[in-house]
Amino acid sequence: MRPSTRLAGFLVGVCASSVQALDYVIVGGGTAGLVVANRLTANPSVSVMVLEAGGDGLGNINISDPTLIGAAWGTQVDWQFPTEPLLFDGNRTLGNAPRGKVLGGSSAINVRNLRLKCIVFFGDVFDRGDDREYDEWLALGNTGWNAQSIMAAGEKAEHFFAPNATDDIDYTLTDHGLSGNIATSYNSAAPPIHDDIISSVVNAGGRETADNDGGYVNGIAHVTNARLPSNNTRSTSATGYYFPYSNRTNFQVTLNVVVTKILWSSTASGSAVASGVEYVDTDGTTHTINATTVILSAGTWGSPPILERSGVGNATFLESLGIESVIDLPGVGENLQEQIMAPMEWSLNTSLSLNVVTPFLLNMESLQTTVGSENLATLESLLDVQPPNLSDALYNAHKALYNKSAPWVEEYISVSTPASGPSVLTWIPVNLHPLSRGSVHIVSTNGTEYPSIQYNLFQSPFDTYVLAAAAQRIQSIVSTPPISNWITGQISPSAGVTSIEDLQAFALANVAVTNHIIGTALMGPLEDGGVVDASLKVYGTKNVYVIDASVVPIEPAAHLQATVYAVAERAAALLTSTSD
Ligand SMILES: Cc1cc2nc3c(=O)[nH]c(=O)nc-3n(C[C@H](O)[C@H](O)[C@H](O)COP(=O)(O)OP(=O)(O)OC[C@H]3O[C@@H](n4cnc5c(N)ncnc54)[C@H](O)[C@@H]3O)c2cc1C
Ligand SMILES: *[C@@H]1O[C@H](CO)[C@@H](O)[C@H](O)[C@H]1NC(C)=O
Ligand SMILES: *[C@@H]1O[C@H](CO)[C@@H](O)[C@H](O)[C@H]1NC(C)=O
Ligand SMILES: *[C@@H]1O[C@H](CO)[C@@H](O)[C@H](O)[C@H]1NC(C)=O
Ligand SMILES: *[C@@H]1O[C@H](CO)[C@@H](O)[C@H](O)[C@H]1NC(C)=O
Ligand SMILES: *[C@@H]1O[C@H](CO)[C@@H](O)[C@H](O)[C@H]1NC(C)=O
Ligand SMILES: *[C@@H]1O[C@H](CO)[C@@H](O)[C@H](O)[C@H]1NC(C)=O
Ligand SMILES: *[C@@H]1O[C@H](CO)[C@@H](O)[C@H](O)[C@H]1NC(C)=O
Ligand SMILES: *[C@@H]1O[C@H](CO)[C@@H](O)[C@H](O)[C@H]1NC(C)=O
Ligand SMILES: *[C@@H]1O[C@H](CO)[C@@H](O)[C@H](O)[C@H]1NC(C)=O
Ligand SMILES: *[C@@H]1O[C@H](CO)[C@@H](O)[C@H](O)[C@H]1NC(C)=O
Ligand SMILES: *[C@@H]1O[C@H](CO)[C@@H](O)[C@H](O)[C@H]1NC(C)=O
Repeated sequence: MRPSTRLAGFLVGVCASSVQALDYVIVGGGTAGLVVANRLTANPSVSVMVLEAGGDGLGNINISDPTLIGAAWGTQVDWQFPTEPLLFDGNRTLGNAPRGKVLGGSSAINVRNLRLKCIVFFGDVFDRGDDREYDEWLALGNTGWNAQSIMAAGEKAEHFFAPNATDDIDYTLTDHGLSGNIATSYNSAAPPIHDDIISSVVNAGGRETADNDGGYVNGIAHVTNARLPSNNTRSTSATGYYFPYSNRTNFQVTLNVVVTKILWSSTASGSAVASGVEYVDTDGTTHTINATTVILSAGTWGSPPILERSGVGNATFLESLGIESVIDLPGVGENLQEQIMAPMEWSLNTSLSLNVVTPFLLNMESLQTTVGSENLATLESLLDVQPPNLSDALYNAHKALYNKSAPWVEEYISVSTPASGPSVLTWIPVNLHPLSRGSVHIVSTNGTEYPSIQYNLFQSPFDTYVLAAAAQRIQSIVSTPPISNWITGQISPSAGVTSIEDLQAFALANVAVTNHIIGTALMGPLEDGGVVDASLKVYGTKNVYVIDASVVPIEPAAHLQATVYAVAERAAALLTSTSD
């Protein structure tokens, strides 16, 4: 095979007879796709072609410099997915949602940019969830996926750089992977106000912990970023899993091509066989490529549309678009889940010189601790109502998390300074496990048209109440000494907004998404809306897999990428152990 990494359509070229068959075609060179491609091509006799819609991103400072907060958004490396109006929130729209369209995928653009009073910066965070959450994957029927196996796969991806002693940041070395492909580290040093934030959390009944990355997520800790400390550059799946390996002749990448659908050599019921995929290049020319195995790694909004255009999905729906059903799989595109938040701000008596200060993440064990005992009875009664679109299996998994006192709310805490005026304390409650479920579906057979994305946020009143009750509890922590002594005023919500009713209205009006979308090609039993089995193979196929965030069944009490790396590492290990 030619050592080309850039030649579009080379396998369908002039001398097909001299070209050896391709083993794997991977759709999407994003966070998960490049991990799988890297692990497969470690065996020189296995050939892989990655088809990526974006470019290589090399030299793009908006990607490499994580302090250019959100600069990549709205540029050519961002898909800018349009989203539908929020049916349960006054039909407001949240506008276009960012997703990476470049080698590295969303790991290349995942810096959060909240333009409140200050530009608050929570980006390239790298953290794992709680063992109690990962064990629910197994309880849902996903053999082999539990805390032990997911944590091990996650640590395999991580290369942790411990902070220097002068940085004054606590950590626990044994909570981290030390020789993986993704560099993780902390950003700037912590100023004295941090000690008072920690003290108030402890005085209000929370816990201080050195580290939340070891599977027990309970307490306030500094944020770990996917960043190489030597030159403060972002570590992406492209810098970690592709560029250093691009000389592998069996690791090919074709850029700037959009995959439209899977091609089938057999559509026999229950055992459809893919022969490859169809894609279009920037000229609009259609190509096909054959491979023994097809892996979709196009992301939570990218993979389901490809399945649907290939006849895999809700047969009634597909037939309404004139698409012949190959596999009736109603879970495709359903179960869309997103973690939601409602940012809060206070003004401080001081103007810190640092523009951005090392932030904290705070998780507190049990819903009672995070929402306050006075709100618990109402929340329990709301949790007792199973919302539409949430399967019995997923509903029971959430009740089990509740019974296990697993963390339900995560709080992002940072201090930053606007262009003028005093510093601002930002404290953001995040509902980690909302009960509402949305969907992503194609709107036509056009292979490059955007799908329809309906988040369905706040379909369950439980979700609204969690945010409001957590906001009320945060107000009580912030009024606890010693941090209370720094506070000069409440910015958002405004002073006086303290009742649960008012805070629910605040949450509805100010909700922001975390971009931690999962679930649209759910891993789980077929009868529970599953799209892939525990090997991540699509039900009813012989050789089609989905390996990306869309298979994740339960959100971690964390940002998502570390879990996506874990899924990809484990899926790759399963593929190589069966093919070796
Ligand atoms: C703005 C933002 C901020 C975030 N912040 C954080 C954070 O701080 N910490 C954290 O842990 N997580 C964060 N996340 C979430 C995390 O980045 C994602 O969950 C994760 O990267 C998703 O990985 P994936 O492999 O599923 O998809 P992606 O990484 O998005 O990869 C999908 C790839 O497929 C390609 N593709 C899609 N469709 C096609 C097609 N038809 N043909 C060819 N190629 C295609 C895309 O271009 C892309 O390269 C954030 C995400 C975003 C968008
Ligand atoms: C970087 O981001 C800025 C701001 O969004 C944009 O104007 C610029 O074109 C981007 N650069 C590249 C190389 O995309
Ligand atoms: C939102 O739009 C839908 C569909 O058009 C409509 O039925 C509903 O009444 C609207 N809701 C609000 C709150 O405006
Ligand atoms: C520790 O300090 C050295 C010297 O300033 C620097 O090169 C290195 O990147 C720092 N390490 C971390 C993890 O910040
Ligand atoms: C940062 O350092 C790494 C490792 O030395 C190097 O590969 C990378 O090119 C550097 N990035 C930039 C933008 O300087
Ligand atoms: C690729 O480059 C690395 C580092 O230079 C080298 O160790 C490896 O042998 C090379 N692999 C191939 C297939 O050329
Ligand atoms: C590619 O797959 C198609 C079936 O979709 C088949 O007709 C064709 O012969 C295959 N080509 C090669 C070179 O194997
Ligand atoms: C399948 O699609 C049809 C038509 O859109 C819809 O009425 C039905 O509810 C869907 N079925 C499931 C299980 O989602
Ligand atoms: C999901 O919720 C929406 C909004 O309430 C509803 O229209 C749709 O029918 C639901 N889907 C299913 C499969 O229940
Ligand atoms: C949770 O605990 C309650 C009370 O003990 C019990 O009735 C319920 O079955 C449990 N639910 C799950 C999903 O474990
Ligand atoms: C398909 O959708 C794309 C993007 O919306 C559009 O530019 C193109 O014209 C459409 N093609 C057809 C044949 O309608
Ligand atoms: C702000 O308040 C804190 C806590 O009372 C105090 O330690 C600090 O000196 C004050 N800073 C300024 C600039 O007044």
